[in-house]
Amino acid sequence: MPTPAAFKLDLPVRPRRLRRTAALRELVRETEVRAADLIAPLFVVEGEAAPEGIVSMPGQFRLGLADLVRECRELWALGVRAVALFPKLDAALKDAEGTEERNENGLILRAVRAVKTALPDLVVITDVALDPYTSHGHDGVLNAAGDDVDNDATVARLAAMAVRQAAAGVDFVAPSDMMDGRVRAIRAALDAAGFGETGILAYSVKFNSAYYGPFREAVGSAQAAGTKLLSKATYQLDPANRRAALAEAVLDEAEGADILMVKPAGAYLDIIRDVRERSGKPLAAYQVSGEYAQIHAAARLGWLDLVRTRDESLLAIKRAGADLILTYFAKDVAKALA
Ligand code: PBG
Repeated sequence: MPTPAAFKLDLPVRPRRLRRTAALRELVRETEVRAADLIAPLFVVEGEAAPEGIVSMPGQFRLGLADLVRECRELWALGVRAVALFPKLDAALKDAEGTEERNENGLILRAVRAVKTALPDLVVITDVALDPYTSHGHDGVLNAAGDDVDNDATVARLAAMAVRQAAAGVDFVAPSDMMDGRVRAIRAALDAAGFGETGILAYSVKFNSAYYGPFREAVGSAQAAGTKLLSKATYQLDPANRRAALAEAVLDEAEGADILMVKPAGAYLDIIRDVRERSGKPLAAYQVSGEYAQIHAAARLGWLDLVRTRDESLLAIKRAGADLILTYFAKDVAKALA
């Protein structure tokens, strides 16, 4: 019997040669996450009180307008080129119709104007959906029976909402509602109103996911439904369905979406890859609140290393085929890269 040291396999191919040193590993690295790939979701609140921490999203805050502008400046200086803004409204402003959304001087529109005035080059994106405004927490208005969203009535509202956001100066509107036909209606409304340059980042493949829990706490849309647990199953996709997911992406591209999105990201890497292979459009993926919370929770317990898990999670999303990643880690990662 040969000793272990003397034992030699007759191996012409030894992949480990490329992993021998850090320099070699860097040389053959296939995927890279850049600050410019990241889009930072930010929560906006009325007033100028100190930023309110969001319990289930450590390091994330609801920001007043002055703090929001400050945060955007920091992100821009770190190389982040885009933010997605979400309003957290006072419960007193919500009703079944989401009337406050029509307020030309509402919170989100003031936030957009403030950010675009301070940082005209920063790409500003806003959600097109009624959930921050409705007392029931759904993304649209309800039908006469009150047991489901009314698709077409909701689309009419969303098209008008997108025009208001475009007028305030957003670069992209991001319909996150999953109503049928909304991308086409929004494109037509934007063009008719003279906002041909405003783009559509479509939440094309948005699953009915448990991972949105912390976000609903952050914008206050979870408790809005009262005792009934909010289910968006009649409009968001069934997590079991891959073919249906691809059909949605194809439809949104045909309806005029400029950028497609898959959401959540980490549990849907196969879908990201599928959409990447079928569409030439830029593809975004949203690493949602629950993905962020999960990593933080495990790190807090000492069970996972925060930075390594964070970086690996984003690398995986990029490797699966996403060009852009919406992530609450945007600032931390940009700092680490700076
Ligand atoms: C609302 C919206 C949601 C998210 C973005 N836009 C939640 C939902 O559909 O209930 C989730 C983002 C996250 O969890 O980070 N239309």
